[in-house]
Amino acid sequence: MKSVLQKISADEAAAYIQHGDCVACSSFTSAGGVKVIPESLAKRAQKLHEAGHPFQIKLMTGASSSDRLDGVLSRANAIAYRLPYQSNADLRKAINSGETQYTDQHLSHYPQWINYHILGDIDFAIVEVADYTVDGELTLTMSVGATPTFCRHAKHIILEHNMRHSPELLGLHDIYELENPPHRQTIPLLKPEDRIGTARIKVDPKKILGVVETNEFDNIAEFKEVNAVCEKIGQHVADFFLQEMSVGHIPQSFLPVQSGVGNIANAVLGTMGAEKRIPPFKVYTEVAQDAVIKLMQAGRITFTSSCALTVTEQWMSHVYDNLKEFKNRLVLRPEEITNHPEVIRRLGLLAMNTALEVDCFGHVNSTHVFGTSIVNGIGGSGDFARNGYISIFTLQSTAKGGAISSIVPFCSHIDHTEHDTQIIVTEQGVADLRGKSPEQRAQCIIDNCAHPDYRPILKSYLKRTHHKHISHDLSCAFAMYNAFTETGDMRNCKF
Ligand code: COA
Repeated sequence: MKSVLQKISADEAAAYIQHGDCVACSSFTSAGGVKVIPESLAKRAQKLHEAGHPFQIKLMTGASSSDRLDGVLSRANAIAYRLPYQSNADLRKAINSGETQYTDQHLSHYPQWINYHILGDIDFAIVEVADYTVDGELTLTMSVGATPTFCRHAKHIILEHNMRHSPELLGLHDIYELENPPHRQTIPLLKPEDRIGTARIKVDPKKILGVVETNEFDNIAEFKEVNAVCEKIGQHVADFFLQEMSVGHIPQSFLPVQSGVGNIANAVLGTMGAEKRIPPFKVYTEVAQDAVIKLMQAGRITFTSSCALTVTEQWMSHVYDNLKEFKNRLVLRPEEITNHPEVIRRLGLLAMNTALEVDCFGHVNSTHVFGTSIVNGIGGSGDFARNGYISIFTLQSTAKGGAISSIVPFCSHIDHTEHDTQIIVTEQGVADLRGKSPEQRAQCIIDNCAHPDYRPILKSYLKRTHHKHISHDLSCAFAMYNAFTETGDMRNCKF
């Protein structure tokens, strides 16, 4: 049954929102993000600023969002505080310059904090839907994220009804919410394909202020061409998995795979999927990028459970052309479930995430360049790295044309500690850190993952340390960063 809920314009919707309000928008990556209300809100902010009035909101989404949300609002100087993740160039600038406050949070913790009001109250939830009913049943579009939690707690809800999506999406989503302890139950998800919840979110229709109509797909950016370096990383990952199968650490039927975000992750999954000695496998992840749909089409991925479907227009059309089949082989869940330690551990995930840099002892920095400037955030990488059965971090051995080594003596910022990291893979090779002491780890990472230009530099750092359980010389542990700052090239570092 179609709604009699009133249709409103994006400007009318934006007019409800006041300076200081907390606005929670559907979006997990650019997938399922709201599209037109933020633009109206940005215009409103600009007008108010020109008239000398303050106007800034606290903005929450499932994870990152599109330029139409983070970009337009940050360019309008309308975001005072942002969480739990972002990946937008303009917002990044605002965060790194201190104009916008940002909390970078494990995604599995985030809905729980909202439930307990630790993050404050939500004034408005703005939600993209493919369909809705008068009694408040919402069919989401290409992501679930934290939208069920937002809807549960928001004082008011505004819908963006995206007519480009079909009501036929009903059945793609599996909405399951957790009670707070001590009432929390075991999550009955035993296999990636299990459906444990409802197809729609149920909200109190009295909370819905109106419906704004839109008509466009998410504008997902194309990935960089897979280059030879990424292909090598992918092949090393595939070879490592084959080796693990041959010694019985991974069963012949394989285990479900989680794949992180970004160019390297997309390329690694593609290469791994092309390796026919690996049997067809399932994916249990938080973001399904192009490579996932491509491999599903090729029969290499048999089932995908994700929180968002972040695919370019070409692959979105493919999903729509084969929607019936995809609804049998694809499910979108809340991030509270996709990233839940209980489920990740039970399924025995093979977790693959990307790092910015790794230090000799296996600490990983995924977020802050030179320990200070945030790139994106930790996202779900910590949830999967700690709880996966096998956890891999992939990265190129160098950045910026070789002037930066991604293997350093001591990471300038640590997101994943030596206790959570197991396998490091660069185009140079694989470092299996499991069961190794810090000294053995350092040897293994330098020999297998560091670029040959940097191996002597890293070895001479270790030589000048006094032997301890973890051997560091704090007087020069960050000297490689200083060499880059002073000369533009870490290869000029002398220990
Ligand atoms: N020092 C400085 N800059 C570095 C660097 C280093 N050690 N390593 C990489 N970079 C730069 C690259 O040069 C590139 O910059 P550019 O955009 O100006 O060219 C940028 O960081 C991205 O690197 P790239 O090699 O293209 O990797 P990517 O697209 O695969 O992204 C992360 C890598 C780490 C930024 C990304 O995976 C991320 O945000 N991860 C954290 C969140 C996460 O893992 N979520 C998934 C959980 S499911």
